[in-house]
Amino acid sequence: MQSLRQRNAIRTILDEHEQLAIVVHGMLHFVRLIDKGEKTPGLMVFRAMLYYIREYPEQVHHPKEDQYLFKLLRDRTNEFDATLAELELQHTLGEALVRELEHALTRYELEGSPVFPVFRDLVEKYAKFYFNHMRLEEEVVLPAAQRLLTPENWAVVDAAFAGNLDPFAGSNLQYDLEQLFLLIVNIIPAPTNPGPAI
Ligand SMILES: [Fe+2]
Ligand SMILES: [Fe+2]
Repeated sequence: MQSLRQRNAIRTILDEHEQLAIVVHGMLHFVRLIDKGEKTPGLMVFRAMLYYIREYPEQVHHPKEDQYLFKLLRDRTNEFDATLAELELQHTLGEALVRELEHALTRYELEGSPVFPVFRDLVEKYAKFYFNHMRLEEEVVLPAAQRLLTPENWAVVDAAFAGNLDPFAGSNLQYDLEQLFLLIVNIIPAPTNPGPAI
């Protein structure tokens, strides 16, 4: 993976995957604490995690993968067409799952412990889904792109991902990214980001 990081766009994608993994581990940890009857931060922390996922990966990260990285790789070869189609479908399915998670969280807030298992199972399902998604991109697509894209292709992809902005910067939104991460990291047991734990 070290050599993959030599490309700017790949480094950005891997960094964003790491941040996402931290958030998803935070979601898992949150419901596992509730499951064990242990004290958790308020549900607003979980809502903040969902908010982050909706604002950043769903709005910025995935569209750039689809529109630049996947498209240019398809232009170079049809060897990965099935994998790329699967990943694009997963981008759409991921959005639907986040909406389901928001509904399940709201139901849990309103109805309490009787509906907790639905919420917990959905978080476990989402985490598994998302870790598999990132793994497929990192193990198949990024090495393929590194091997097959031309310098001209990389200029386009690097420029697209260099435009990734902190969606919280300079905005009137309630949380900025740094505060949100502090909040999330604080509820994850040390060591943080232990890698996929499912
Ligand atoms: Fe993706
Ligand atoms: Fe990705």
